[in-house]
Amino acid sequence: MIYRKALRPLLFSQDPETAHERTLEMLSSVSGLPLYAARRPFTHTKLATEVVGVAFPNPVGLAAGCDKNGAAVPAWPVLGFGFVEIGTVTAQPQPGNPRPRMFRAPAYGAVVNRLGFNSEGSESVARRLATLRRRARPLTIPLAVNIGKTKLVTGDDEVLEDYRVSFRRLSRFADLVVVNVSSPNTPGLRQWQEHSKLQALLGALMEEARILAIKREAAPVPIFVKISPDMEDRDMEDLVGVVTENGLAGIIATNTTISRDPALSGVEPTGGLSGGPLKLRALEVMRFLYRATEGKLPLIGVGGISSADDAWERMRAGASLVQFYTGMIYEGPYLARSINHGLLRRMEREGVRHISEIVGTGA
Ligand code: FNR
Repeated sequence: MIYRKALRPLLFSQDPETAHERTLEMLSSVSGLPLYAARRPFTHTKLATEVVGVAFPNPVGLAAGCDKNGAAVPAWPVLGFGFVEIGTVTAQPQPGNPRPRMFRAPAYGAVVNRLGFNSEGSESVARRLATLRRRARPLTIPLAVNIGKTKLVTGDDEVLEDYRVSFRRLSRFADLVVVNVSSPNTPGLRQWQEHSKLQALLGALMEEARILAIKREAAPVPIFVKISPDMEDRDMEDLVGVVTENGLAGIIATNTTISRDPALSGVEPTGGLSGGPLKLRALEVMRFLYRATEGKLPLIGVGGISSADDAWERMRAGASLVQFYTGMIYEGPYLARSINHGLLRRMEREGVRHISEIVGTGA
């Protein structure tokens, strides 16, 4: 309420990316404070869940793109998140597209971005994560690290090596690694969702994971692939085949969409659309994936989630975990906390004993 009445008007009076940068700087500076780091994450016996062997205090996460360089990692659990996905991180540092490149569409609770992977690069992010992991207090929630392709790198072998480099630098600090082949703002990136390229990419990264696991005498890090909502059914089916054949841990669905419902007016045409208008499609993709994988592959649902009912519906469609980003821009910093409270209330009302019981029941 306070957010909507006081803080949001202030933030919305600024350019979206500037507002974002200021908020992140604030979170980043407070996340260094010892008291802040000591806070326990939001959890409850009915919400704490295990997915691919990783323990999550609650199933509500921050989606990629908000904390691209991992600048505010200790702050996210304090806001009620049960996990955080940083990135997309590229192997080489790069500035992204020219500004303005982030746009609000308040009438629809939507955002359009064409940031184009502005990233400090995986070397710098790895250094930051190393410092974080060396701190006396461990991170209190699982950390997912999302990696993507450096814009100027072209040629299939070079692209494979580019992903491998980021993987080698970052995966040791990650509880999950997310392979981003679905952002619409890097030319040629989404081709990597197609059969032979995806096969080569996932094969290469699974190999890296095995090599690192042997060296470190640990289990290989679980790898998820993040997909676009703009794929045809048969392409998604094909992707599911490649993902399962390569032994990936799961799929994150979905990234932003380049499609625009003609009924939307005044929405920036170029870039990836997120928030309200993406919700139904992302839900449909989740149902499709759950059925195509017969409920056997862990799925993370993202796209247009801005309430406990949205999170509930996405989990019933097949998501073991959910994430959001745009919802927080419209609803404020305590959305994760309020979704968790809302999930608990609904479980009480519907006599559900543990959140994992609802996964896939509406697919
Ligand atoms: C994103 N998203 C995103 N995804 C990703 O894999 N890598 C990235 O770097 C980014 N960057 C990014 C920037 C901005 C400004 C937005 C709004 C979104 C996509 C994001 O993680 C998510 O998949 C979609 O936004 C859909 O979820 P929401 O925002 O509707 O909850």
